[in-house]
Amino acid sequence: MSAATTPRSSGPFALGDRVQLTGPKGRLHTITLREGGELHTHHGVLRHAQLVGIPDGSVVVNSGGHEYLALRPLLRDFVMSMPRGAAIVYPKDAAQILAEADVFPGATVVEAGVGSGALSLWLLRAIGAGGRLLSFERRPEFAEVAEANVATFFGAHPPQWEVRVGDLAEELPRATPAGSVDRVVLDMLAPWECIDVVAEALTPGGVVLCYVATATQLSRVAEYLRGTGLFTEPDASETMVRGWHVEGLAVRPDHRMVAHTGFLISARRLAPGAVAPEQKRRASKSSYGDEDVELWTPGAVGDREITDKNLRKRVREAQRAASARLGGAAGDEDDEGAGSASPARID
Ligand SMILES: C[S@@+](CC[C@H](N)C(=O)[O-])C[C@H]1O[C@@H](n2cnc3c(N)ncnc32)[C@H](O)[C@@H]1O
Repeated sequence: MSAATTPRSSGPFALGDRVQLTGPKGRLHTITLREGGELHTHHGVLRHAQLVGIPDGSVVVNSGGHEYLALRPLLRDFVMSMPRGAAIVYPKDAAQILAEADVFPGATVVEAGVGSGALSLWLLRAIGAGGRLLSFERRPEFAEVAEANVATFFGAHPPQWEVRVGDLAEELPRATPAGSVDRVVLDMLAPWECIDVVAEALTPGGVVLCYVATATQLSRVAEYLRGTGLFTEPDASETMVRGWHVEGLAVRPDHRMVAHTGFLISARRLAPGAVAPEQKRRASKSSYGDEDVELWTPGAVGDREITDKNLRKRVREAQRAASARLGGAAGDEDDEGAGSASPARID
């Protein structure tokens, strides 16, 4: 990344820097330091000049005597607060995407759709000045939001970033020679519609990674990748990050977390003509029918199945509890509202 498009990430604050101020009651303000600039709040006035030349992480006091902690925003702070057109890739998933897709300095990367540009920012940082990011977005307004967000973060449009408005399936073959792309990251509703052009664009050994929100999309893209015969067996995962409250002896997981964002699925492009050796037994089917219910029985999905003997025991226990309850005899069951007026029935 050229000096002109690298936000300064350390050293004393200078004019042009973005600064995140945490004020009274934890209220956040993000400002860009300007000659003569001032932050006006109902707590008083803070002059930008007070910040210029002092170290990152300093505390400054405004005209009303209120303290503000001043820090340069991290990329994750920036993406979580920037304007959004479409839903963004969260930092926890972006970090995992960079690792699983093996995005490296100097890589040629294709991305679609651009959405709000959150993932573009992470990709641009990872490929560095010697890389190339080609991002596709079919909605022009989203591309505009993304371009503005990326320019705000880097201070200019990074020279190694090209945004093309259009559908990836149509535009990619026009934009890159076959076999010239190192990595492809797809964040869109129907990535399987783009896998054929992605296979054409990827270099042998290159990685395609799709981020999808639902299990049914995950299944469909996995079967599509397999069906082409052009990729290695796909790897699928999801990333859950649980924050912890760590204070004195009160050390415990946070009560709330972002439980679901999306799934990642990745595979590598085989060399032309190569056929991957069979690694494991493949499910015989890839579309759903009534008989597929068999594939979801406890044994088939890896859960322990109850033995007939144990099952008969459970039936006797349940029936004893029901007759104690319904017949009014003393029993162990005393939950409020448990049971019903109708006779117990075992199907
Ligand atoms: C969830 S958003 C992407 C968010 C983005 N990764 C981010 O982190 O900000 C999905 C985007 O994909 C775009 N899209 C869907 N299918 C596409 C296709 N075939 N070609 C190009 N863009 C597509 C949509 O218009 C939408 O803006």
